[in-house]
Amino acid sequence: MEKDLLKLLDLSEADIHKILNMGDQMKFNQRHKLIHNYLAGKTLAMIFEKNSTRTRVSFETGMFQLGGHAIYLSGKDSQIGRGEPIEDTARVLARYCDGIVIRTYGQSEVEELAKYSSVPVINGLTDFAHPCQVLADLMTIREKKTRLEGVKLAYIGDGNNMANSLIVGGLKCGMEVAVATPKGYEPDESVLSFAKTQKDFALTDDPAEAVKYAEVVITDVWASMGQEEEAAKRREAFKGYQIDKKLLGLAMPNVMVQHCLPAHRGEEIAADVFDAHAEEIFEEAENRLHVQKAVMYLLMGDNVRK
Ligand code: CP
Ligand code: NVA
Repeated sequence: MEKDLLKLLDLSEADIHKILNMGDQMKFNQRHKLIHNYLAGKTLAMIFEKNSTRTRVSFETGMFQLGGHAIYLSGKDSQIGRGEPIEDTARVLARYCDGIVIRTYGQSEVEELAKYSSVPVINGLTDFAHPCQVLADLMTIREKKTRLEGVKLAYIGDGNNMANSLIVGGLKCGMEVAVATPKGYEPDESVLSFAKTQKDFALTDDPAEAVKYAEVVITDVWASMGQEEEAAKRREAFKGYQIDKKLLGLAMPNVMVQHCLPAHRGEEIAADVFDAHAEEIFEEAENRLHVQKAVMYLLMGDNVRK
């Protein structure tokens, strides 16, 4: 494993499976009330420059459950909001804390933080990637389908951070990945260059084509955080990209649906589809906690070779 978790492109298939296996173990431990203070005495700094419910609460709770402590730093209230350079923030936080989670806009800010931090940096979402979420998605899919290899995943909607991370994570785990986005809203070029070297990848602007034979169908909001002003324009551009009963009817009969949340019912997902698949979607949300405990244990635990 690398020192940091910045994007799934940096992980090998073995790294991903190691995290997922440890995530399953963390879930088992919690279900059976087995308490492990793997991170006793350790502190996690959590920098948030965007809103969050799941990421903040799951990291904070996960840290507590492993015997450690988490400190929430909103961009606004810390000196970051007043322009303190990221490289100085990194060097200071690394002297107090044992790990840093950051949610921000540019991927380059996260990479910069990791460059100057001697402690692990975990990407809690950027405009480019959402690796922790996709690790939770992969954990949930493996749990429900018992395998990842050969399972067809269809992503319908915006070529955003979720699309980027799902393509990389899915392909690295041997899944078949099909993506449907409107023209002009395709995933990042670096992700497409990676995907094109893999055998089981398809990109189309036709949702029906992408969901055909899919065992997992995933979507995300049409306007991500920071794109609020484009919401109306995007609602137009994404017409026909909603996951509704008709579209889902083209997938495999036992299809599962994932959504990282928050969801906009009536936009990217129909309310009845959301309700019918709510159990899978909230299991996915729960798995954020387990998989992130695994990530923190593997990156920040005393087991880590320095
Ligand atoms: N899915 C996800 O990252 O949720 P939050 O924005 O609530 O953290
Ligand atoms: N694509 C969404 C994901 C939210 C968890 C966003 O970036 O806002």
